[in-house]
Amino acid sequence: MSIANIQRLINACTPLWAGEAEVVRTYWSSPKRSLQTDLLWLQRQCFKEFWGSGVGKYDRGGVVPGQLKKLAEKILDTDIGIGRDEVLGVLDGIRAEFSHYCAFADLHDEIRPAGAPKIHPGLLLPWPEEDALTALRFKHQAEHGSLGMRACKLSEGGYCTLFSEGMALSGKPGLEGKIAEACAKVYDDEFGHMLAGIAGIAEENLGPADWALIGTLVTAQLRQRIRMRNAQFSFPVSEERVQAIYGGDIRPLEFDYRRAKLAA
Ligand SMILES: [Fe+2]
Repeated sequence: MSIANIQRLINACTPLWAGEAEVVRTYWSSPKRSLQTDLLWLQRQCFKEFWGSGVGKYDRGGVVPGQLKKLAEKILDTDIGIGRDEVLGVLDGIRAEFSHYCAFADLHDEIRPAGAPKIHPGLLLPWPEEDALTALRFKHQAEHGSLGMRACKLSEGGYCTLFSEGMALSGKPGLEGKIAEACAKVYDDEFGHMLAGIAGIAEENLGPADWALIGTLVTAQLRQRIRMRNAQFSFPVSEERVQAIYGGDIRPLEFDYRRAKLAA
């Protein structure tokens, strides 16, 4: 019963994950691409890795700074108010996200023109479509509690399509190969993260209405992710094409059930 529900949910996600992948893939050879747009998407990715918010209970106030601050408040209560395993988990998460920030920040600083400033977190800004995604996620959590959080976890990372499409540039010369390397550094962490969100759902005792609601919430978030990503990359995909993707005119991405340890 639960597996059939998971499959239905994943089938709702795969066309939208494919849409996000298409945005990134289109960008690599888009006539809109320039050094300026490359610097911009890298800055914006750094924003997401350092400041981005929307899912974890610790990350309000920024993935890295928010979690550090929350942990600092609790660390003296280790084994009283907070389990040592939980502390270790939060530290691992902070280290991972900070290393993702480093991967993209290093690349940005390497390709910036002479005289342009190096990246630092204080320079990084969200963009309207990213803010809209965060607002949607917070709204879903506020209105639907744990089911909203579950939907956020499912949509987090968007099946890592930015990173897999970046890795597809592997072997190309110059910047392309470096993008592939940066994306490869991040891919495994994020893929594991996303799978944890999906696997956890099988352990919850959800009723039919809950499954339907999660489906509605997660697809709304994934649609907004396509807009977030399209804007991050200076709109390589037209609004007409975005609408077509929303309408299902796209080959769905293949979900890796084996890696997710879910029976297909
Ligand atoms: Fe990350």
